[in-house]
Amino acid sequence: MTTLVPHPATDSALTFPPTFRWGAATAAYQIEGAANEDGRTVSIWDTFSRAPGKVHNGDTGDIAADHYHRMREDVALMAELGLTDYRFSVSWPRVQPTGRGPALQKGLDFYRALVDELLAHDIRPVVTLYHWDLPQELEDAGGWPERDTAQRFADYTALVAEALGDRVQTWTTLNEPWCAAFLGYAEGVHAPGRTEPGAALRAAHHLNLAHGLGVGVLRELVHPSAEVSLTLNLAAIRPLTDSPADADAARRIDALANRIFLDPVFHGHYAQDLRADTAMFTDWSFVQDGDLAAISRPIDSLGINYYTPTVVAAGSHPAPSPWPAAPAHARFVPAPGPRTAMDWPVDADGLYELLTRLRDELPDTPLIITENGAAYDDYADPEGQVHDPDRIAYLRSHLKAVHQAMAAGADVRGYFLWSLLDNFEWAYGYSKRFGMVHVDFATQRRTLKDSARWYADVVEHGGLPY
Ligand code: NOJ
Repeated sequence: MTTLVPHPATDSALTFPPTFRWGAATAAYQIEGAANEDGRTVSIWDTFSRAPGKVHNGDTGDIAADHYHRMREDVALMAELGLTDYRFSVSWPRVQPTGRGPALQKGLDFYRALVDELLAHDIRPVVTLYHWDLPQELEDAGGWPERDTAQRFADYTALVAEALGDRVQTWTTLNEPWCAAFLGYAEGVHAPGRTEPGAALRAAHHLNLAHGLGVGVLRELVHPSAEVSLTLNLAAIRPLTDSPADADAARRIDALANRIFLDPVFHGHYAQDLRADTAMFTDWSFVQDGDLAAISRPIDSLGINYYTPTVVAAGSHPAPSPWPAAPAHARFVPAPGPRTAMDWPVDADGLYELLTRLRDELPDTPLIITENGAAYDDYADPEGQVHDPDRIAYLRSHLKAVHQAMAAGADVRGYFLWSLLDNFEWAYGYSKRFGMVHVDFATQRRTLKDSARWYADVVEHGGLPY
């Protein structure tokens, strides 16, 4: 590990609190592989990735980073990096294959072994219950647009909570329900690949309901001191200009990206403008008595996934769109500056803007950056080194933004780098590498990238070197 040269004038400015949680994040379908083992059945992502033309290069998660078989090696890597926390998701079809009925013991055993391995290395497990791998049988019954899926999620939550509740302190119900609802059911670029705007809005509500029911189950079954959370990919929205038309476009996107989750979860309602903007697709009659009370059950923290800002102007964008009702009113303009391999602009100010907004709007809710990171075209050189200076620059600027937001009063408790390992990047397959650890998918060999060594230094010193 490289030694940092202390710089007294600036070091103190970039030191994070000693209790700050330094982690890395992954998700089951993206890393586990072992798709047909130990009774696991098919999720919507198995189906979608096998359908021709849906995923780059026809890639699937069948083998992925083979984490199911290499879990101990991967936890050893985390320990080597000094991580305090590890965020992973439980595969629903691995622990409850049809999405109904009793748990599959072997599936639960894997996660119990993972949690025990983490705890043995002094790494806190942060469990996400749903990171997009809905059992196919539930999609066959209608998927998230159907209300029953929320109840199925509550039952599944109980199975996992009973198995892991004695040893996991931090629980997240859902990861990025916006993607599950709108990329999956409106734009169709994620599983299950449907392009039905009305169904996407129903899905968003039922994901919110699933979250609320899940919180209720967790409160009953896990340790009373456990932390219960939700992870959202909130959009850091900037209108292109201060014209009223751009402001209106930004308001519409804010309603569909942010307030559709924040309002019910934290304030127990859906906004009038959201209902009005989407009236051509739904009358919102799927919101039943008691739903909003369930959805707004208090949670202990909010997870934020941030990658790039969303610059919005008046105009239109092509259908199918993930934004029901917005295509005719909003267009997206890339922020200026460098881009990552995803073509996403690098703009750490967006993270600062988002965190300070949440400081103002949710002053009593601790925040955790549950994902932040970047894909670059990394490769191992002939000496077996992976040099990724762009990723280090990205991470540095974003950690500075987090620090600045904290100095400005945002209550941020931790930072999880996406991702521990190169993995299956959804519709992009294995073509995009987000890991701080390089994976050679032919051999499954893991190699620390320079960014991993850099991040280990940050973790060890509790802050940025300069
Ligand atoms: C958000 C998702 O939660 C994760 O699964 C994905 O790989 C990253 N963003 C990068 O796109």
